[in-house]
Amino acid sequence: MNFTPDQRSAVYEAIHNRRDIRKFLSTPLEDEKVERILFAGHHAPSVGFMQPWDFILIQAQETKDALALAADKERRALAIHFAAEGREDHFLQLKVEGLREAPLTVCITCDPTRGGDHVLGRNSIPETDILSVACAIQNMWLAAYAEGIAMGWVSFYKKSDVRRILAIPPHIEPVALLSFGYTDHYPERPILEESGWAKRENFQSLLHRDRW
Ligand SMILES: Cc1cc2nc3c(=O)[nH]c(=O)nc-3n(C[C@H](O)[C@H](O)[C@H](O)COP(=O)(O)O)c2cc1C
Repeated sequence: MNFTPDQRSAVYEAIHNRRDIRKFLSTPLEDEKVERILFAGHHAPSVGFMQPWDFILIQAQETKDALALAADKERRALAIHFAAEGREDHFLQLKVEGLREAPLTVCITCDPTRGGDHVLGRNSIPETDILSVACAIQNMWLAAYAEGIAMGWVSFYKKSDVRRILAIPPHIEPVALLSFGYTDHYPERPILEESGWAKRENFQSLLHRDRW
């Protein structure tokens, strides 16, 4: 825990410059890089050290196509909700996944039964198992950045569709589909910000001192 200034800068650079990416090149990924990214996920913190994650590596085109179809179904369903706000067309122009083209997609899951009935710390807040998986995802995102590989988080799907396509048992939660690949466009700002969909909140307005 004694970083040089360069090492410290590298950590903040990864945190601030990491982006969610939905356009990928077909260039294959090196196995050793993928392994390091997955291993970074496996070293995330987890409630009671329950490590509730599994990683399903998806490379078969047939499976990618099926997942892309499930995501598209969900995207169209969501579009209706933006119609009332007059934002349906803008929403439908956004690319919200790159499942077909990404050379690798990882479905990261959560097993709520791992660690038995009484996982230390999880009794009070049951969703801490999913939060632990989210920590693993962020580790993978930062590790991918360090490897020069882009990642996109896809949550546009019905869990039942993903369970069926990937043969996931009913008690296991498919938390996210994470697409990985090289890209020729890694934007400086979030894509949703660049396209005028959303803005970053003012940081100062989110700070509270001593009480809400
Ligand atoms: C829980 C979660 C779910 C997300 N689901 C999607 C998704 O389904 N499709 C998508 O294009 N981006 C998805 N994203 C990415 C966000 O849109 C992105 O993180 C946000 O716009 C900020 O951009 P940045 O990650 O480049 O900083 C998701 C991110 C999170 C944390």
